[in-house]
Amino acid sequence: MLLNISGTDPARSFRETFYSSEMKRVLLAAITAALCTSSNAGDKVSDVTELPSHPEPPDLLTTVRGRKITTPLQWFGERRSELKRLFELYMYGSIPANGVAHGTVTYTDAHYFDGKATLRLVTLQLPGKAAPAISLLVVIPNHRAGPAPVFLGMNFNGNHTLVNDPHVPLPASWMASGPYVTNHHAMDSGRGTDMHVWELEQSIERGYAVVTFYCGDVEPDTTNAVGGVREIYQLLTPADDWGTIAAWAWGLQLAVDYLVTDNDINSKHIALVGHSRLGKAAILAGAFDERVALVIPLQAGCGGTAPSRGTVGESVQKINTAFPHWFCARFKRFNTQPDRLPFDQDALIALCAPRSVLIGAAVEDTWANPAGTFDMLKSADKVYRLLGVEGLAAQIMPETNKLIDSNLGFFIRPGKHSMTKLDWQYFLDFADKQWGKPRTE
Ligand code: GCU
Repeated sequence: MLLNISGTDPARSFRETFYSSEMKRVLLAAITAALCTSSNAGDKVSDVTELPSHPEPPDLLTTVRGRKITTPLQWFGERRSELKRLFELYMYGSIPANGVAHGTVTYTDAHYFDGKATLRLVTLQLPGKAAPAISLLVVIPNHRAGPAPVFLGMNFNGNHTLVNDPHVPLPASWMASGPYVTNHHAMDSGRGTDMHVWELEQSIERGYAVVTFYCGDVEPDTTNAVGGVREIYQLLTPADDWGTIAAWAWGLQLAVDYLVTDNDINSKHIALVGHSRLGKAAILAGAFDERVALVIPLQAGCGGTAPSRGTVGESVQKINTAFPHWFCARFKRFNTQPDRLPFDQDALIALCAPRSVLIGAAVEDTWANPAGTFDMLKSADKVYRLLGVEGLAAQIMPETNKLIDSNLGFFIRPGKHSMTKLDWQYFLDFADKQWGKPRTE
């Protein structure tokens, strides 16, 4: 590998060099390997009973057939595509390719937050499909010296809850019952009620754009989902069908398709952020999509960044029982034998390499298994090092409120399962460290 690692930020230097000079060669190798690999869609899929038991997470740098991965080229050309396919087959289901979504700006306010930002409402629609429309809420800092780095993430309760502004429409899609929801529809009374969760103005003041949409625009979070994207793209084999988490990841990737065409956004500095179940979708989307430079799964827990083999908090069996629609049918076969999974969630983190990942945890959120999550991050480190970049600069879980800001980052703050202003401060500090502070004018 022709790496030109120098200066104070080897990760950034690697990314620039790698993407410019090596990308074509690696992509070609990946495509060739994907065409030759035994785990293509048409091949027989081993049943869980035929898979070997791995009481510990399978080695990231050994293929299913026992081949050792010792070079970046083997990682990208062989193991990475194998792991992606295994996650699709046994856990999330297959994510269909996107068409090109058309974005229509329906409203602009250039003087938001006392003139500090521009707010835009954008509708994303796939041409020629009955796919649901996704309503993006876009806030971009006005006083910037160039295209803005951006945080992209789904919200739980609708765009109208993140600002108190009658111009922002209520979602038309299904919504789970809650204090501001009647008959599964959002109500006006919910306006502004999640402002403290997203703290948009804080990101604007630090020079970052934020783009968000309601997860239910893509797929309703319910067992008998109708009107979501999974209804439109049904796969032929039910066991290969995708779950809600994959559908949400699909939606995030569609939004990335749009963002890379927006001249106000720095397409090289896209961070995906998500809390809890939406953090599971964020890490999946980011792991599979190399346009994403930074992934921030916050308290994503089981099915996201906590080990499936974990013994603390939520288990595979518990998550499949409470949320049978989140994963593909085959994942349920691992309920009582997660040791037979041919991967663990360290592999999902490692699929992001050499890109940055920041994991956030909360002390009282043991359901999401903070210590097990840190172990997953630690394990993914070896893939980063194989690629010649800094991975995780800590061997033991840091004390509370201490940000590990290496390429694989981590923090644990006091308190419960939630997304707060303090979490966003860590996201912003971490992005500043990875990309440099956004320049203002
Ligand atoms: C439940 C679920 C978790 C999930 C969380 C959330 O607690 O068991 O897996 O992360 O909801 O999305 O808030």
